[in-house]
Order: sequence, then structure tokens, then C-alpha cells
Amino acid sequence: VVSDPLPEATLAELRPHCELRLVDGRDRADLLASVADAVALIVRSGTQVDHEVLAQAPALKIVARAGVGLDNVDVTYARSAGVTVVNAPDSNTVSVAEFTVGLVIASLRHICAAAQHVSEGEWRRSAFMGGELAGRTLGILGLGRVGRQVARRLTAFEMHVIAYDPHVSAAEAAEVGAELVTFDTLLTTSDVLTIHLPKSPATTGLLGESELARVKPSLCLVNTARGGIVDENALAAALKDGRIACAALDVFAEEPPRASPLLHLPNVLATPHLGAGTDSAQLRAGRSAVHSVLRVLETAGV
Ligand code: MLT
Repeated sequence: VVSDPLPEATLAELRPHCELRLVDGRDRADLLASVADAVALIVRSGTQVDHEVLAQAPALKIVARAGVGLDNVDVTYARSAGVTVVNAPDSNTVSVAEFTVGLVIASLRHICAAAQHVSEGEWRRSAFMGGELAGRTLGILGLGRVGRQVARRLTAFEMHVIAYDPHVSAAEAAEVGAELVTFDTLLTTSDVLTIHLPKSPATTGLLGESELARVKPSLCLVNTARGGIVDENALAAALKDGRIACAALDVFAEEPPRASPLLHLPNVLATPHLGAGTDSAQLRAGRSAVHSVLRVLETAGV
């Protein structure tokens, strides 16, 4: 069962080996019916592979996430039921890092608002005075795969890059041009703060009211990781009160973000979870998921 969109080339790799069932993972009834006799389930982020789905699929051998985040899969329950869970950890690192750089530049130079302005027939250049990246301090929260690629790219723009990550040494940070700092220093000295953490109980709400109260009022916050790591109500309040200058958000606590207080704020640049949205990343993720599925099914003799 494939329950989120995958490139046709990926599906073509699977077809000779199995009976392929394509479903819309957001349609619960269809998903539950489809997994009843499935041996493998391939998802992206649109399908919630929770306890109910897994309990409904007694023949399931593997859940393959064609992407990185596993926050939509109940990994603990799956493993306890003997189901292998895999992701494609390297598939979209570069795409997400490049998209993050795009959001930083677009935010500091008001590119999206200015383009909208011109498309409406306006030409007020003074309304879009921006700031240079060079000389500003970029704070990276989470110096894993994506965080490191963001560091490499934005040091090339002459940003001063600092990072907080308790799992990384100062020497490892220095390799990508970043200076390791405390969480408090990251909050209080960043001009741009970009989040690159997985979503977990430990990271949910990590940036809440008290953390956001410590940042510079000129801060631009960027999130291409997961919604919910930043408390959306606290961020919306800070953006409205001018305690944070702007935010560029590719991810939301609920997607699509129908009721998010962040939508429609003039200082928010919002995109629809596009970080991994490149042909290269999707092909890599799809291929990795397919190979994992074929390997696990072969080992299981299915
Ligand atoms: C990921 O975790 O791989 C990215 O957020 C992209 C996605 O969810 O599809």
C-alpha cells in the first residue's frame, strides 16, 4: 500500500514485485480497509500510521517513510508488533537546507511581499527596505544533517553562525563554520533563528512564551522542521506585539493550518511544507523506501 503521493518512477520500480494499492492516507476508512492484508506500507507525511492502522494490518512487515520525519508513525507500537520501520534520512537534506536559505533571504529582503505588491500594480520601493545577511548572526537550533548544510551555505553569505545542539561537539560544529553556544546565548544573540530538530515529546513546545520573550525584537524566526516545536499562539502574540520582527514558516502544528493564529499576519511568510519538495529529493526518498521494502519482504520470504 502506498498512501501518499510518490513519483511515478518510484511506483514503476515496485510494480514488477508486488500488487500495488494506491490510496489517499488522509481517507481513514480507505486506509484502514487497504492495510487489512498489506505486507508493506509506504507513506510520506500525510498519513498517520498510528496504533489503529497498525492493529488493522496483521500481515504488515514494514512501514517505510519516504522522507525523514517519523513523527507520523507510532514507531514504538510498530516495533512491538514486529513491524520494521524505516525512513530515508539522507534523501532531502540538501533540498530542505536550500529552501531554508531561500526563506532567510526572502524574509530579510521582503521578496514575497514585494512581488505581491508589484503584481497588484504598485511600485513603492521604500516600503521594502531590507537587511543584508552579511554580518548578521544566524542561530541554528539543531545541528544535525540539515542544520549542518544550512551552516555551510549561510557562512558563504558571511553570516556569523552559532548553533545549539547538546549532541554535537564544538569541533564538529566548527567543521561547518558554526560556533557552539548555550541555548540561552542562541536565543538572546541570534538575528535569524532557524529550527532543524525532529518533532518529539522533548522538542514539542521547545520555543514557548518564555523562550520567545528572550529573543531580540529584530529576530526573524525560520522553521522548516516541524510545526509544534514553536508554540504557535506564543509566536503569533510576539509577532503581533513587535517582540519578534518576522517569521518564515514552512511547517505548522496542524497541516493544512486551517486555524493557526499565524496565518494572515503581515510579518509571516508561510509556505505549504515545501522543504523536501524537489524532484531530486522525492526520487531519492522514494527509491530508498522501495529498496527497504523489497529487502525486508525478501528477508521475510514474502
Ligand atoms: C520529511 O520529514 O521528510 C520532510 O518534512 C518532508 C515530508 O514530510 O514529506
